[in-house]
Amino acid sequence: MAIKKILVTGANGQLGWELSQLASAYPTFNFIFLDRTGLDLTQPATFEKVINDMAPDAIINTAAYTAVDKAEHEKELAHTVNALAVGALASISKQKGIKFITYSTDYVFNGVSTTPFLPHTPLQAINSYGSSKAAGEKMAQANNEASIIIRTSWVFSSHGNNFVKTMIRLMKEKTSLKIVGDQHGRPTYARDLALATIKMIEAINAGKAIQGIYHYANTGETTWYKFAEKIKALAGLSCALEAITTNEFPTPALRPAYAVLDTQKIENELSITIPHWETSLKECIQKLS
Ligand SMILES: NC(=O)c1ccc[n+]([C@@H]2O[C@H](COP(=O)([O-])OP(=O)(O)OC[C@H]3O[C@@H](n4cnc5c(N)ncnc54)[C@H](OP(=O)(O)O)[C@@H]3O)[C@@H](O)[C@H]2O)c1
Repeated sequence: MAIKKILVTGANGQLGWELSQLASAYPTFNFIFLDRTGLDLTQPATFEKVINDMAPDAIINTAAYTAVDKAEHEKELAHTVNALAVGALASISKQKGIKFITYSTDYVFNGVSTTPFLPHTPLQAINSYGSSKAAGEKMAQANNEASIIIRTSWVFSSHGNNFVKTMIRLMKEKTSLKIVGDQHGRPTYARDLALATIKMIEAINAGKAIQGIYHYANTGETTWYKFAEKIKALAGLSCALEAITTNEFPTPALRPAYAVLDTQKIENELSITIPHWETSLKECIQKLS
């Protein structure tokens, strides 16, 4: 049965919001967007009624506990939202024949590598948030083997809280900033990830066998420092930037030195070319201004 009605959780998050902005360009789909008042992931007992009422053909679960540092002392809440809720949604989806798509993170890896992480690289979460997301991946797959899990990294958007918006604000407020320069990763424009997710649903409707774990991030690897330099140039700001080491910027949650995701699988299976992060950053900053 073709997917027509799609329930999206996390409507006010970066990815949920980008999906909502794209919805009108895809009139063949009937999107329903729910924020936490419509579906609270800490209340699994309510899921079945909401899903029965909406009767979707697919669920795109963009909602998540994403406060990486706070997760170190809110482990239980992070686990409830990122693991137990994901497992429950996967289970209900299986019972009702609903396609289930959820997202995960580069933090499920240990950050110790010199080559990009593959979808099947063994998991060793670097922090509590990563552990909660890794547990969510396992529960989604255990409860519904047809689940789709898309791992992503360094997400930014013109909407919500992210590195790009924080940097622009701080660069306007301060004359100099110190940015970590020894962590490597791939930024991801939430709009590009939203488009890839819709493309994935179109591929399912076209009969392609899509399930399991995928990686999606924009092309090109960088460091937070180089990312900040590009933000500064594109936003036309003049704040002085200095690269520092991870040791000079301690945070409650550990961050990976190397968080580069290999995206070949999604590129091949969906026949997509992923934009370079600098191209997408330019688009995002144009929207912000
Ligand atoms: N952001 C990143 O850099 C990043 C990196 C790797 C992976 N990811 C993953 O990518 C996916 C999308 O992330 P994002 O950047 O769009 O996240 P985001 O902007 O932080 O949005 C997350 C959304 O989840 C909602 N939420 C939190 N707790 C909830 C609950 N108990 N019930 C219902 N909704 C709840 C939040 O609602 P409120 O608006 O009400 O707070 C928020 O709208 C997530 O799975 C995330 O873990 C993100």
